[in-house]
Amino acid sequence: MPSIISIRGLNKTYASGFEALKHIDLEIERGELFALLGPNGAGKTTLIGAICGLVTPTRGSIVADGHDIIRDFRPARTKIGLVPQELATDAFETVWATVSFSRGLFGKPADPAYVEKLLRTLSLWDKKDAKVMTLSGGMKRRVMIAKALSHEPSILFLDEPTAGVDVELRRDMWEMVRGLRESGVTIILTTHYIEEAEEMADRIGVIRRGEILLVEDKATLMAKLGKKQLVLHLQSPLEQLPGALSGEPLELSADGQTLTYTFDAQSEQTGIGALLRRLNEHGIDFKSLQSSESSLEDIFVGLVREPA
Ligand SMILES: Nc1ncnc2c1ncn2[C@@H]1O[C@H](COP(=O)(O)OP(=O)(O)OP(=O)(O)O)[C@@H](O)[C@H]1O
Ligand SMILES: [Mg+2]
Repeated sequence: MPSIISIRGLNKTYASGFEALKHIDLEIERGELFALLGPNGAGKTTLIGAICGLVTPTRGSIVADGHDIIRDFRPARTKIGLVPQELATDAFETVWATVSFSRGLFGKPADPAYVEKLLRTLSLWDKKDAKVMTLSGGMKRRVMIAKALSHEPSILFLDEPTAGVDVELRRDMWEMVRGLRESGVTIILTTHYIEEAEEMADRIGVIRRGEILLVEDKATLMAKLGKKQLVLHLQSPLEQLPGALSGEPLELSADGQTLTYTFDAQSEQTGIGALLRRLNEHGIDFKSLQSSESSLEDIFVGLVREPA
């Protein structure tokens, strides 16, 4: 199946001369949830802006759901919903009016039943007659989502959807986003909560300084770059590691109470059996052991860390 978004050789150099995007090639698959991760200033919002027609590309092409976003701007735009990073809402309008109006802007006929369903899903129904300016920050963000969905787009961009949103509401929003994905909407989100990407994404893209560092299935990425650790709590503290064990990927804690063994999550041979035998030979006993896997956050931090 052809990709729903196809980006080729995209470059954006701002009028200041700053090159925010450097030759981006990216394909987004129909129906997937794609998480775009990257540090502040990496170019995430610029990339989304280019796809949504808010930022004029310097070079390259973007096709969204079969429409070139420059030549075919209008039809391309009706396929896309955007929840921008910066909240900008019509403060004096009611929730109902602003969402209905947004639908009209895209030339869709009024559909009160759809708008009602949307507001109910976003827990905004009891606020439908409230002026937007009287809502809390999290509620305003939900109004932005309702607006973005008002014209029933097939592609939804969420630029930091849960920034400043409380834990409970974040869970609710994840639930809602999952529901949208199940209904067939393609979702591209940026987030600084790596946990969010870990929980929701099918694929992960990492961008740094205007360049895509990698695009990978989440599961593949975690298997490929993930590390596992085995932590052994020792029966009696060690002063130092016996010399014979110094070649092992073993680390003794400062207090001498725990030994941490790091191994490759993907490899068949973990070396744990041999390690435990050797510890036994050296008379090192342990009370308990626990294993852990690196999170997407560990992987991400490793990826975007600037070379010293
Ligand atoms: N209108 C503009 N004119 C000049 N430079 C800009 C403009 N908009 C963005 N930039 C620069 O482009 C770079 C990328 O910005 P962008 O907003 O895309 O980053 P981001 O990845 O979304 O960051 P954040 O995580 O902070 O939202 C930054 O260095 C920013 O200063
Ligand atoms: Mg941004």
